[in-house]
Amino acid sequence: MIPLSSGSDSMNLPSLKEAGKRTKSSIPFITEEYNLPESLKKLGTGRKYFIRTYGCQMNVHDSENIKAILEMMSFEETETLENADFILLNTCAIRENAHNKMFGFLGRVKHLKETHPHIITAICGCMAQEESVVEALMKKYKWVDVIFGTHNIHRLPYIIERAMSRQEQEIEVFSKEGEVIENIPVKRDSKYKAWVNIMFGCDKFCTYCIVPYTRGKQRSRKKEFILEEVRDLVKHGYQEVTLLGQNVNAYGKDLEETSSMGELLEEVAQTGIPRIRFMTSHPWDFDDKMIDVIARYDNIMPYVHLPLQSGSNRILKLMGRRYTKEQYLELVSKLKKKIPNLALTTDIIVGFPGETEEDFEETLEVVRACEYDSAFTFIFSPREGTPAARMEDTTPMEEKNTRLYKLNELVNEYANKKNQQYLGKTVKVLIEGPSEKGNLMGYTETMKLVNVDGSSSDIGKIVDCEITDVKTWSLDGKVV
Ligand code: 5AD
Ligand code: SF4
Repeated sequence: MIPLSSGSDSMNLPSLKEAGKRTKSSIPFITEEYNLPESLKKLGTGRKYFIRTYGCQMNVHDSENIKAILEMMSFEETETLENADFILLNTCAIRENAHNKMFGFLGRVKHLKETHPHIITAICGCMAQEESVVEALMKKYKWVDVIFGTHNIHRLPYIIERAMSRQEQEIEVFSKEGEVIENIPVKRDSKYKAWVNIMFGCDKFCTYCIVPYTRGKQRSRKKEFILEEVRDLVKHGYQEVTLLGQNVNAYGKDLEETSSMGELLEEVAQTGIPRIRFMTSHPWDFDDKMIDVIARYDNIMPYVHLPLQSGSNRILKLMGRRYTKEQYLELVSKLKKKIPNLALTTDIIVGFPGETEEDFEETLEVVRACEYDSAFTFIFSPREGTPAARMEDTTPMEEKNTRLYKLNELVNEYANKKNQQYLGKTVKVLIEGPSEKGNLMGYTETMKLVNVDGSSSDIGKIVDCEITDVKTWSLDGKVV
């Protein structure tokens, strides 16, 4: 049966303050089989669900869990919003524009609900953990039927059952430190690539970031469960796993029998899965053992996503990042030396409170030194409840936009330069399926998107492709 435990603290309405608390109390591990009473298994009969997912891979993977739970309840998936009886938005809170996108989509859902009042609408994910969002939904979006949080996914069948039997909004958001629940079912979007959570939550508390509040305390899954999941994926023909966590390098540090990311990576490599990726890394916990293991195993991909955030030591300090520009550069040089063919990508925030032109120039300098394959770049977005949202910020938005533009120009220059090196080369590509342009698409070991001229029998296989043309953001190739 579904574990009904609520951990150290449970309440129905979110509280970011509560969610930001950390204690030394041990993390509950729930390993019972996930099963439902017969009555819940039939609740969705004849009903279709539509799910829209915003945000990071963690959310994408949560949606894979949610889909499996809904299908255990006999709901059927539809990709057409207008055909759905149950509409679910899995939301992201990382920046203000993620909020805006969600509220924009909610407008479309409202129209449908007005003409089809039987539709059940639900909001989950990181925004559901924010009290200001839930307050707005309670006051101005009373027609939204269900709100549930990131710690409540396993309880979804009970939440839906309650929502169906009453007229009021059903809200269940726990703001707790968290627990580790094994055996939540999963309906994977791909037959070839799989997301595997290795840890949940984050304790780094970078001053701009909402994640430690929306996702709770850092808690690693036990190694044996992760390995069991990967072995099962190998048995089912999966070609690639991405080990997921907000801060994967800190894997295992919170476990009683401590384990390290280096050890875990090595054991995952020994399962024989053809490709292993991991994300996201924090420079702070990236140790030599990890670098050594990545270099030693051919099935660990030579691709590292290493968020820089800023190249100014002053700003890094204000961000609470715990490393200096020099330490970051030293790590990058070690990675490049030990891992031939390494592709390096990053995240950068411009316009953090107090960032001066000189600070920004230092960021550009680090970008030049690292020659990233690509970078995700953002303008600082104040998140309610985080320390950075309370810092004085006098830089005009126009200036921040100019900095972002300049940064993107530089990033694109290097992205293009890196891609040019592929022209005429033969590389291994995992073919995932048809591309938008009508042929096939897949990714190289270094995570470059390739539009491939090949046959549909190549789908799901790792094939040799010759690169015939190069763009800034993708490559063209043909199977050889
Ligand atoms: N404003 C802008 N960017 C942010 N990120 C996280 N929080 C914020 C914020 N408040 C960025 C960081 C992180 C990525 C996932 O999102 O660069 O690495
Ligand atoms: Fe946010 Fe990543 Fe920092 Fe954690 S390590 S607080 S998820 S930016």
